[in-house]
Amino acid sequence: MIKQAIIPLAGLGTRLLPLTSVFAKELLPINGKPGIEYILDECIEAGIKQVIFIISQKKIMIKNYFYSDNFYKQIIKKKKDPKIIKEYKKILRYKKMIKFVYQNKPRGTGDAVLKTKKYIKNNFFLMLLPDDLIIKNNCSKSMIDIHNRYKSSVMASMNVNKKNVSRWGIYKLGKKLNKKNFLIKDVVEKPSIKHAPSNKAVIGRYILPKKIFYKLDKLKPGKGGEIHITDAIQALINENNKFIAHNFSGKYLDCGSMNGYIKSGLEISKS
Ligand code: G1P
Repeated sequence: MIKQAIIPLAGLGTRLLPLTSVFAKELLPINGKPGIEYILDECIEAGIKQVIFIISQKKIMIKNYFYSDNFYKQIIKKKKDPKIIKEYKKILRYKKMIKFVYQNKPRGTGDAVLKTKKYIKNNFFLMLLPDDLIIKNNCSKSMIDIHNRYKSSVMASMNVNKKNVSRWGIYKLGKKLNKKNFLIKDVVEKPSIKHAPSNKAVIGRYILPKKIFYKLDKLKPGKGGEIHITDAIQALINENNKFIAHNFSGKYLDCGSMNGYIKSGLEISKS
């Protein structure tokens, strides 16, 4: 059963500078709602009960957003505005399910995952990368269904333009399970066009096994001096652990770059 999700939020957000020099990108509104709330709603709808936020001191603003009880209480006391009460109730509901852990040095996604090691209870957990929004279909929910059916790890996947492969984790296709699901043979973090095994990219939704922590513990920094989750996944694949690539339905939106962020707002307002 997948009941816990983790969300790495300690990234510097350099693709969204200058905004991110003072602001946490995950709180930026997309069609009037902070990006992180879309991710939380996806988790709730997929049956997740606890979400672990990996933040840094620099991004304490994210914790403050969910811990502004005094602010709300004072305002509500003065004006009993039902809209504000509703907003506060929503924040309280999120707050109850979030646990905060810290990654104060941005050493990569793998290192962020490692910070959650002692809090993961079951054999599998969900990870969502907040730059990747998927609308019109709950990708986490579909992946949990696949996990329940095959009892294996799952990653969201989509075809990308060959010339952009170096932006993504790229995998080599294995056996076809059915129309939307394939086994993964190999996965490599941000390969050059020349070395990319395909144009099939890993998107920011993962169902990972608890044993990945033991791989991460031993992992040396990879590309760009960071600890990559992709490298730990490859280490597990090398030991015959099954990873399924799930070609998700729904629309992918990249909120981590300025262009993508602007487009995301427009797309969501239309949907
Ligand atoms: C991360 C992963 C990469 C994956 C991508 C999906 O990269 O390392 O393998 O394809 O997310 O968004 P990042 O976006 O953190 O550079």
